[in-house]
Amino acid sequence: MIYLDNGATSFPKPAAVRRAMGEAMTRCANPGRGGHEPAMAAARTVFRCREAAGALFECDPERVVLTANCTQGLNMAIRTLVKPGDRVAVSGFEHNAVVRPLHLLGAEMLVAGRRLFDGDDTLEKFEDALKKRPAAAVFSHVSNVFGYILPVEQMAAMCRERGIPFVIDAAQSAGVLPVSLRELGADFIAMPGHKGLLGPMGTGLLLCGRLPEPLLAGGTGSDSARYEMPEYLPDRAEAGTANVPGIAGLLAGIRCVRKMGTQNIFMREAEQAKKCAAGLKKLGFRVFSGASQTGTVSFVPRCSCEAAAEELSGRGIAVRAGLHCAPLAHGSAGTLDTGTVRVSFGHDAHAGQTAALLKAAACLRGVEE
Ligand code: ALA
Repeated sequence: MIYLDNGATSFPKPAAVRRAMGEAMTRCANPGRGGHEPAMAAARTVFRCREAAGALFECDPERVVLTANCTQGLNMAIRTLVKPGDRVAVSGFEHNAVVRPLHLLGAEMLVAGRRLFDGDDTLEKFEDALKKRPAAAVFSHVSNVFGYILPVEQMAAMCRERGIPFVIDAAQSAGVLPVSLRELGADFIAMPGHKGLLGPMGTGLLLCGRLPEPLLAGGTGSDSARYEMPEYLPDRAEAGTANVPGIAGLLAGIRCVRKMGTQNIFMREAEQAKKCAAGLKKLGFRVFSGASQTGTVSFVPRCSCEAAAEELSGRGIAVRAGLHCAPLAHGSAGTLDTGTVRVSFGHDAHAGQTAALLKAAACLRGVEE
């Protein structure tokens, strides 16, 4: 199987990640809930994960909140900053992990910049949206469908200049592009642990530039005589027993990323994405590619996207078809009716994967609905 669905999750996980998870299950008990060795081993593992993430994302370890996924972090961040009925600026490429929590709150979304791979348009429209004085801004670093890298550094600067709190969805950039809480000055940056960071599913991180409102209340192993959640991080945002095997795996994944270097990972993925886009265009498909693109490429075949993905799967190629939980992004690109077939390379991207995909894609020309 040639796995090209890293936008959904990186797979298979590195051996070090699998090993770390197994070890945690034999060595670790409940962190922060006891002074005995298995509890302390768990606490050390959890702290090391915060430290490794803090070093990668330029953030104090205690500001690294461990979540179950990126969606949980985004929900916590949005619930902290947005009140029902508030106006919120978003990019034209948001995932439902941003759109649905905002909709649930009854927020008015100011959708800014819908032109793919056009940073100037994104910035111009984002500035217009900020002039309407939204209560907050929430924007993706990279589109999960198209791999478009948004100019988040400038968007962050615009928000900071105007005193507008903001959240960055780093679901597709963490582990692939530089992400610095210190430099960006974001209120929150949410990310999964299981994509670019190579950890297991069921893990995520929320980097906190400010104190969040907890999504869950419960035991933290701290301030236990009080009925209120602790006022400090990370305890305030981490009620209940942690996913220690997952966190141990995430720690190992982050270490793999730091060893490879995000810049090297990005260049590797982006190089294959570029070749893949050129090859798909030659085959006559409608392909979405441009400057500022990661290792993710979407295309529209002549048959349905679902039929194409099924055909590719039968030929040993794993991709994702449809709307990718991002109808806003598809609406921006004009693919809401058809969806796209998404090819997403990972940290192990190589020319053989591109060649295999293109060989299989050539057969799609004969596929009917
Ligand atoms: N959000 C993930 C994706 O883009 C699951 O496939």
